[in-house]
Amino acid sequence: MKQELKKHIVLGLTGGIAAYKAAELARLLMKQGVEVQVAMTEAACHFITPATMQALTGRPVLVNQWGAAESGMAHIDTSRTADAIVIAPATADFIAKLAHGLADDLLSTLCLARDCPLLVASAMNRQMWANAATQRNIAQLGRDGVTLLGPCSGAQACGEEGMGRMLEAEELARDIVAFLQNTPLSLALSRKRERELEGVRVLITAGPTYEAIDAVRGITNRSSGKMGYAVAQAALELGAQVTLVSGPTALPKTQGARVVDVTSAAEMFDAVKQHVADADIFIGVAAVADYRAAQPSEQKIKKSADTLTLELLPNPDILAYVANLPKPPFCVGFAAESENLREQAKAKRKAKKIPLLAANLAQQAIGADENELILFDDAGEHVLPRTDKLTLARALVQHIVILYQQGKQR
Ligand code: PMT
Repeated sequence: MKQELKKHIVLGLTGGIAAYKAAELARLLMKQGVEVQVAMTEAACHFITPATMQALTGRPVLVNQWGAAESGMAHIDTSRTADAIVIAPATADFIAKLAHGLADDLLSTLCLARDCPLLVASAMNRQMWANAATQRNIAQLGRDGVTLLGPCSGAQACGEEGMGRMLEAEELARDIVAFLQNTPLSLALSRKRERELEGVRVLITAGPTYEAIDAVRGITNRSSGKMGYAVAQAALELGAQVTLVSGPTALPKTQGARVVDVTSAAEMFDAVKQHVADADIFIGVAAVADYRAAQPSEQKIKKSADTLTLELLPNPDILAYVANLPKPPFCVGFAAESENLREQAKAKRKAKKIPLLAANLAQQAIGADENELILFDDAGEHVLPRTDKLTLARALVQHIVILYQQGKQR
């Protein structure tokens, strides 16, 4: 059944291959009761026709600021009546224009002349995304209060693989609707992203640990490190000094963070003990092995017909150690549960005596590109709906900033 959200957005398309996803996005938004007015740059028209977008939305598409259909003050009128402008796809070039306040076509003029929120779904090649100029422009948009949706990592149209791929239409529709409904995620995402953690030292654990059984075998888990690295990235974006203690992962080193590579839980514990005195905030995202082999063999254990019994010893609880220090940093824990998420998470927050715990379903979170979190703090619970891990990490870190600053004022 069509839900009447009664919101009106301008959907701006710029010239990237991901423009084809905008057709489905418009359809999904309209299905949820969002009125969609499409505006396209000339470059976007090379990838998808205005006729397609007009047929889907039932409204003439705005393209040319000098054309008869868009004469008058289209740039002012259109943004005045909109609840938000969403740019999807947003190319590196268009993002640069937004960051510098350029207005040399109808869509960029609409963005500059708006008094409504702006949401930007980036889409570009991984090297364009990683380029320092793009990252500067993205950071500027964050400071200007623009809401960034994605991008995510994956296969790219050019045949390469990496960060810069636009989120799928379903993901964007969900995030846009959440934004229009003022959910906790949207509030966290739409806060102005000043450098609120400038000078704040954040210690983060990420990834799995590996507990050797013998020379070639060990106990580990499927944590990829993606969630912890995303949290590190989100903290860096706000100006934090980040130390990332990472178990074995296949991820590239986080630029700008001090990365300490470890293998076992004991090594992770040592690294945390070494750096915790300098930390203002500690975030335990790592999936630390709860047990290790009592007597790991230096040589490969030979196969035999006998039963092999492995004695396991419990590992130290790193988060509990940090939280119980005489002057602990602001502590944030994660809980990965396969059932009874809420009950287990609340019990874990209480047992570990930490102000904030982020709970996720292990089977949906571990190794995945996306996640959903429920945050538990003294005020209750806050759901951060499913989205890519970087978007989620930004919302989580915004929540941490609020609690951390409140704690300092007491
Ligand atoms: O790495 P990804 O593939 O992106 O997956 C992310 C994730 C699912 C691993 C992550 O979101 C997550 O949930 N991390 C915590 C997983 C976990 O081990 O939860 P736990 O319930 O066992 O531990 C609770 C908390 O105590 C965690 O903050 C953990 O880091 C910490 N802990 C646990 C055991 C231990 N010996 N020392 C710890 O510090």
